[in-house]
Amino acid sequence: MRAESPIGVFDSGLGGISVLSAIHQLLPQEDLIYIGDSKYNPYGTKSKEEITNRCIAICDQFIKLGVKMIVIACNTATSACVPLLRKKYDVEIIGMEPALKVACDRGPNQHVAVWATDFTLREKKFAALMHRFDQNYDIYKVPCPQLVRIVEEDDLENKERVDKALQEYIERSGPVDSIVLGCTHFVFFKQLLANKLPDSIKLIDGNEGTARHVKDLLQKRTLLNTTGAGSISWINTLPEKVELSKRLFNYMEDSVK
Ligand code: DGL
Repeated sequence: MRAESPIGVFDSGLGGISVLSAIHQLLPQEDLIYIGDSKYNPYGTKSKEEITNRCIAICDQFIKLGVKMIVIACNTATSACVPLLRKKYDVEIIGMEPALKVACDRGPNQHVAVWATDFTLREKKFAALMHRFDQNYDIYKVPCPQLVRIVEEDDLENKERVDKALQEYIERSGPVDSIVLGCTHFVFFKQLLANKLPDSIKLIDGNEGTARHVKDLLQKRTLLNTTGAGSISWINTLPEKVELSKRLFNYMEDSVK
């Protein structure tokens, strides 16, 4: 394995592009390969076995492409099968989970809504995470499947549809101190959501933390690319989604300028 080898990043579709952008900003010299599994999206309503089979197919493809690390830019896929993938492949595998700790660390008696897929919220991995905090904090689970569909269907510009969906999930969350965006598709709504909420409600996602984790681990393994030009290669199981993928990537890059 060489420092010049690419990093593989994948998601059930286009949500992981928000993570890809965070990695690219922190590590502009790395070559990144993004695989979006839009043909099989959403994962959030599928069985553990179905999700695991898709993740294996994607990781096999990354191994053939010679990646030095795989980032599962998807909370749902991580909860389905990250231990199995780590056992199966020799490369370092980084997963994601809802950043509940960050929300609870804001102070005592926090009221926190976790927005995620139905699968993530039902799985053992999230139950274990929640168990660490739910004695001292009020935690509400809010599945938000419409937000995944809006991104995949290229409908972020549809103000009426977006407003209606966000409003519904805000109402379901109740009175909260923070909302954890526990699905990578939801990060595309962060600014729109912030516009609808008072400043006191914090929106928390795991993207920057994941990018830092990628950097730390590469540094530890002396695999950090410090001389490359940095490139992004796009693969999608629905090739017609590549153009939308690039637009979403630019949208994320612009939002941090
Ligand atoms: N983007 C994914 C996540 O972070 C899941 C979306 C889906 O396929 O349902 O959980």
